[in-house]
Amino acid sequence: MSQITIHPIAGRIGAEIRGVQLSGTLSADTVADINAALLKHKVVFFRGQQLDDAGQQAFAGLLGDPVAHPTVPTVDGTDYVLELDSAHGGRANSWHTDVTFVDAYPKASILRAIKIPEHGGDTVWANTHTAYLDLPAPLRELADKLWAVHSNEYDYASYRQNVSPEAIERYKNVFTSTLYETEHPVVHVHPETGERNLLLGHFFKKLKDLTSADSQHLYAVLQSHVIRLENTVRWRWQAGDVAIWDNRATQHYAINDYGDAHRVLHRVTVAGVPAVSVDG
Ligand code: SIN
Repeated sequence: MSQITIHPIAGRIGAEIRGVQLSGTLSADTVADINAALLKHKVVFFRGQQLDDAGQQAFAGLLGDPVAHPTVPTVDGTDYVLELDSAHGGRANSWHTDVTFVDAYPKASILRAIKIPEHGGDTVWANTHTAYLDLPAPLRELADKLWAVHSNEYDYASYRQNVSPEAIERYKNVFTSTLYETEHPVVHVHPETGERNLLLGHFFKKLKDLTSADSQHLYAVLQSHVIRLENTVRWRWQAGDVAIWDNRATQHYAINDYGDAHRVLHRVTVAGVPAVSVDG
């Protein structure tokens, strides 16, 4: 047992963890307790951390194998750190699970707040397991059978308000410098908890064996269950905060309500394994 304490925030997702500095030497018990809280609450938050890039990478190494973004160059001097800078189009205001356009998408993401607007710029996470449980039985049975194509080629301009067309073009060029496409089950069985989760988000392109039109209708129905407010938690950032989410059990959305104010966060992801359908 470690010294950390765990304080749930919303009814179905999210907890704040207190009593630990992630930059310090962490005992195996502390790492195990953080991991257990992550699996249970899906996203965990730490206030007042003193991590720098090197510390964030080192901490990620305690949760698994850190992995760089497939297309975006890392921050200078780092191996794995992705910068999300609002001034350069880094406003992820669209529901997604990180990097689902590759087979073995990350199992976890660690996000550190560096510069936060005085007002706004919160992030919201949704629990994709309770979303699955919320589905009426006939929809659940249908979803269990579906497979989806995910790709990093999507409409980057569709949700980037407050960003110039030039910045969007630059952003898109970096994010799609290599095109990726893969297939995932719409419902996957979490490799650690065994829970069933909906696997959707903005890299979703279409459902296999369905027309694009039918895919979009069905996507909208399933996704509407993911983003029901009952399944979400919203975090008001302060500089120094760290959030870790289970990328196999969540989607997230960075609220773009801060105009020209400057928002900068650094993210490190931890390698995952390919999703497994309910049929194994
Ligand atoms: C992300 O999508 O990984 C970043 C979320 C955020 O900027 O709050």
